[in-house]
Amino acid sequence: MRQLVVTVEPHEAELAGDALWGLGVVAIEEREGVGGAVELWTSLGDDAPETAFQLPWPWRFVEVDEAVAETWRQFAEPIWVQPDLVVRPAWVPFDAPAGVTVLHIEPGATFGMGDHPTTILSLRAVRRLVAPGCSVLDVGCGSGVLAVGACVFGAASAVGVDIAPAAVPTTTANAMANGVAPRIDVSTTDLADVAGTFDIVVANILAPTLVALADDLRRTVAPGGALVISGILAAAHEHVLAALAPMRVVETDEFDGWVAVTLR
Ligand SMILES: C[S@@+](CC[C@H](N)C(=O)[O-])C[C@H]1O[C@@H](n2cnc3c(N)ncnc32)[C@H](O)[C@@H]1O
Repeated sequence: MRQLVVTVEPHEAELAGDALWGLGVVAIEEREGVGGAVELWTSLGDDAPETAFQLPWPWRFVEVDEAVAETWRQFAEPIWVQPDLVVRPAWVPFDAPAGVTVLHIEPGATFGMGDHPTTILSLRAVRRLVAPGCSVLDVGCGSGVLAVGACVFGAASAVGVDIAPAAVPTTTANAMANGVAPRIDVSTTDLADVAGTFDIVVANILAPTLVALADDLRRTVAPGGALVISGILAAAHEHVLAALAPMRVVETDEFDGWVAVTLR
């Protein structure tokens, strides 16, 4: 399999890492590069579109042994999203205590294991908003963890879209593993081509993409519905909110420097 390697100056490593999470990588390893530079090695899927890599840093692909690239799986653990909500990596044994809801997720080559702060924040917000029978749109669904979660929480249906082709089989498999497959429709449809409106629209994508998608995010929220955005930093997201006006912020949840903002 191939890995994406991005070379940056040490002070840019965090910013570059955030950009890579937003592209849909599932893990990032920092290695020492030449001349004090930092190399960020990521497990981006083989079918990730090259058009996604509009990075302001030098990057290259490296072919690596699949077994080496997958070592992170040995260290995966169930993620406690809330005291009664766990995302379980599908290959990790877990005896759920009574009353705990478990989402079984196999990310494959997509983003969305459930351990990133923005996924955790988005899941919490979606869970708070889901009313029985509601409809959900998950923009940038990755592994489908948010769409699957929404249906497990009681949504009648969820549509997931992503530019990464791997998101389609992965979300489908995760929907099946969690018993909600009939309620989930996933595709690589452009958000601009998604028709209709939804009670909840959730988009956990980096700020520049949220700004670019702002008109369609607003358009797809049903009257009285809610938009949840994440993938944005607590310290720098005002410009995203400005792009989404006249929608107004009704809730901001913060974790580890990231936020999820709910707007209506
Ligand atoms: C941070 S991941 C979120 C994955 C998952 N929803 C979660 O919360 O863990 C962002 C996802 O957005 C996708 N993406 C990026 N730009 C997009 C666009 N313009 N339209 C749809 N999906 C996009 C990426 O491929 C990636 O899967």
